[in-house]
Amino acid sequence: MLERRIKRMEEVLKKRQKDLVLFIERVRNQHNFSALIRTAEAVGIMDIYYSYEEGKKASINEAITIGAHQWVFIHEVSDPVKVLKEFRDKGFQIVVTWLGVDTLDFREVDYTKPTVIVVGNEVEGVSKELLPFATHKIKIPMVGMVQSLNVSVATGVILYEAYRQREKAGLYEEPQLTRQEIKEILYKWGYENVLKSKARSRAKI
Ligand SMILES: C[S@@+](CC[C@H](N)C(=O)[O-])C[C@H]1O[C@@H](n2cnc3c(N)ncnc32)[C@H](O)[C@@H]1O
Repeated sequence: MLERRIKRMEEVLKKRQKDLVLFIERVRNQHNFSALIRTAEAVGIMDIYYSYEEGKKASINEAITIGAHQWVFIHEVSDPVKVLKEFRDKGFQIVVTWLGVDTLDFREVDYTKPTVIVVGNEVEGVSKELLPFATHKIKIPMVGMVQSLNVSVATGVILYEAYRQREKAGLYEEPQLTRQEIKEILYKWGYENVLKSKARSRAKI
């Protein structure tokens, strides 16, 4: 049983996309925040960054993530500009969702390149101060009466386009993580799981 689980974790880690990152800017609703984490994990994202406004931090709803938050690294960020600058300096393209003018259709971007996808607040969208870092500003076309999608829905659409392109390019076939990285994460995941199951069995006594 344990062996099968470890094998599964290893298979998952072999498909993790180190160079595909989700940046969640000031999303407030815990349902949205949790759904974003769940979808990101499903396409093999390993690192999720998020920022929030003072006193408006979204929390994780485990009924919505159904555990996905345990299998990704979630980084809280106080200075989004600094983090995006660092990614840009490392050669990542910064793809910012933007509902204003001067945008590309989201399908026109090459997501096989190292990419950070930035999604924004439910009311205000992505902050204007992040726009200078955008390699591309993207929009999902819409022809209905409403002018935006729910943030977790929009992110799902974009991430699955990234997944489609990366799968086609064979990026899920060869592990991006080194053997040492896989070993270290497996140890961490395995250890945390043992601790959790011990806590569960103690709670039943
Ligand atoms: C409800 S929207 C924000 C609406 C806000 N009034 C604006 O102008 O950005 C919340 C987030 O969902 C994503 N989003 C929603 N609709 C989108 C679309 N059609 N294309 C790209 N992203 C979208 C973006 O990340 C956006 O910041």
